[in-house]
Amino acid sequence: MFKFFACWLVWGLGFCTSIVHSAAQVQEPRVPYVPTPQDVVEKMLQMARVTSSDYLIDLGSGDGRIVVTAAKKHGTRGFGVDINPTRIDEAVANAQKSGVTDKVAFYQRDLFQTDLSQATVISMYLLPRVNLELRPKLLDLKPGTRIVSHDFSMEEWKPDVHAQVYSREKYNGQGGDSDVFFWVVPAKVAGV
Ligand SMILES: C[S@@+](CC[C@H](N)C(=O)[O-])C[C@H]1O[C@@H](n2cnc3c(N)ncnc32)[C@H](O)[C@@H]1O
Repeated sequence: MFKFFACWLVWGLGFCTSIVHSAAQVQEPRVPYVPTPQDVVEKMLQMARVTSSDYLIDLGSGDGRIVVTAAKKHGTRGFGVDINPTRIDEAVANAQKSGVTDKVAFYQRDLFQTDLSQATVISMYLLPRVNLELRPKLLDLKPGTRIVSHDFSMEEWKPDVHAQVYSREKYNGQGGDSDVFFWVVPAKVAGV
């Protein structure tokens, strides 16, 4: 009887461990894939004033259009991260087609596990709650780092610039407004 119970317990524990293990390995996207319309990409890069001296990181880079456009039009170096391997394949193909593989790279990675310290500019098109979760990490970046976000703000961290741009590509070609928010990471000041 005891042996039967022990076997059952061992099997049960093994089963539970394997469920937890495979759940830990599956990385679920926190944000669905919706590409930024190309004219909004241009507006984001213009607001962030990207140049060839910048290093741009796009968090959740989709087909890589923000990083690739910055490299092609402004000579900006940088990388994109996306959790979805299909998006990474598309972004790499996009970089090859645009002839910017010497300037950009794309990694399949969770954006929350990404080292952002190299960035002078961060771009993102995520979701309000994801922006808020990222906010402490962004505020911890080098003072002067520029951040540009499509459509979503960071609540109490008010943007330095907020613009609205109409795009015919928005909402699957139905057309609509995009919000673009821009922040500069402030210096840390404390004391009396
Ligand atoms: C709204 S799309 C934006 C794509 C691109 N940045 C653009 O503006 O065209 C968000 C992207 O984030 C990716 N994503 C979602 N959760 C992620 C995570 N935890 N880490 C990295 N990428 C993620 C999705 O796969 C998707 O491609």
